[in-house]
Amino acid sequence: MKHLLVTGGAGFIGSNFVRYVVAEHPEVTTITVLDKLTYAGNRANLADLPTDRVQLVVGDICDAALVDQLVAQADAVVHFAAESHNDNALADPDPFVTTNIVGTYQLIQACVRHHTRYHHISTDEVYGDLPLRSATETRKFTPDSPYRPSGPYSATKASSDLLVRAWVRSFGLQATISNCSNNYGPYQHVEKFIPRQITNILSGIRPKLYGNGKNVRDWIHTSDHSRAVWTILTQGQIGETYLIGANGELDNRTVLAMILQQMGQPADAFDWVGDRAGHDLRYAIDASKLERKLGWHPQITDFSVGLQQTIDWYSKHKDWWQPQKAAVEAKYQRENH
Ligand code: NAD
Ligand code: DAU
Repeated sequence: MKHLLVTGGAGFIGSNFVRYVVAEHPEVTTITVLDKLTYAGNRANLADLPTDRVQLVVGDICDAALVDQLVAQADAVVHFAAESHNDNALADPDPFVTTNIVGTYQLIQACVRHHTRYHHISTDEVYGDLPLRSATETRKFTPDSPYRPSGPYSATKASSDLLVRAWVRSFGLQATISNCSNNYGPYQHVEKFIPRQITNILSGIRPKLYGNGKNVRDWIHTSDHSRAVWTILTQGQIGETYLIGANGELDNRTVLAMILQQMGQPADAFDWVGDRAGHDLRYAIDASKLERKLGWHPQITDFSVGLQQTIDWYSKHKDWWQPQKAAVEAKYQRENH
């Protein structure tokens, strides 16, 4: 695998993956990033990478001719590009349907035409949500969990997964799929939960907690996600789905309490705000298939350590996030969040 096409490589997880491949896999000589540079994409996420190895093509995954041309030159495609934020999907589902469903369709059609290896990045949200954990309730999502998406974002991601599964069976698409839990780490957009709270505190704005704060997310550092994707891309079995998670279940109130404590703020220095419509209660990933069959394990297993690194990164990179901060907060205020 010498030439990778990485869609959405100027976004949060995609750019961390590109950085990981550049640093750890010299056998990959060129990485072409196809990214539309929506509000969530940022050239700066790829700054300082060697230009003889990483090229950014600004374009749309829905552009069939462009996709065909780029796929024809690639040994493998890793597809991260998506509209990714639940609150935005509730406000306007339109770009989610177009990018997440039609964009994936264009990519897999081109991969079938050119017999190109394809890895599809997806989310645990396709499985809906779980009841809160208790002595008797310990279930997690597995690759056999039924598809039960709750909102417009997860419904479009579920649709894209189903297209990939059907194209494997009907057209011989050489694909693997991974469904990962909530990522955190550097370069995450300030609209998302953890960066929003950190950058609120750094901006003198009180953090905001939705609903009753009891919703549980299963946190994984984005560097562990990158290694898992590489492992599946190079060792995964065609047609298989792998779940990626790091046993990082925490409720939102606990995560916010850790952020406040690690940033030297009083425990009550936050505001309760309106809940998200259809808010999923709990996600939890059983990653044992990936661990057992492909030998992947997370390296950042202490969330407070990864969180401190993330706080340090946002503290040192104000020039990266400040230009978008005011507009994001103004939008949240209009939406009662
Ligand atoms: P992000 O919003 O930070 O980045 C998405 C990138 O895709 C941006 O660079 C954007 O410009 C680009 N993009 C959007 N529409 C495009 C289009 N039509 N054509 C080309 N490029 C386009 O998202 P992220 O959080 O990095 O998520 C990346 C992928 O990982 C998504 O597929 C998402 O569903 C999945 N995922 C995310 C998480 C998470 O916690 N963030 C967890 C599991 C899976
Ligand atoms: O589970 C994987 C998914 O994780 C990915 O597929 C999505 O792309 C990614 O955005 C993320 O979705 P969530 O909706 O879980 O992430 P978000 O950061 O938006 O919110 C995390 C939790 O925090 C959720 O329960 C809502 C809550 N929240 C969010 C914000 C922005 C707050 O309490 N306050 C906030 O200000």
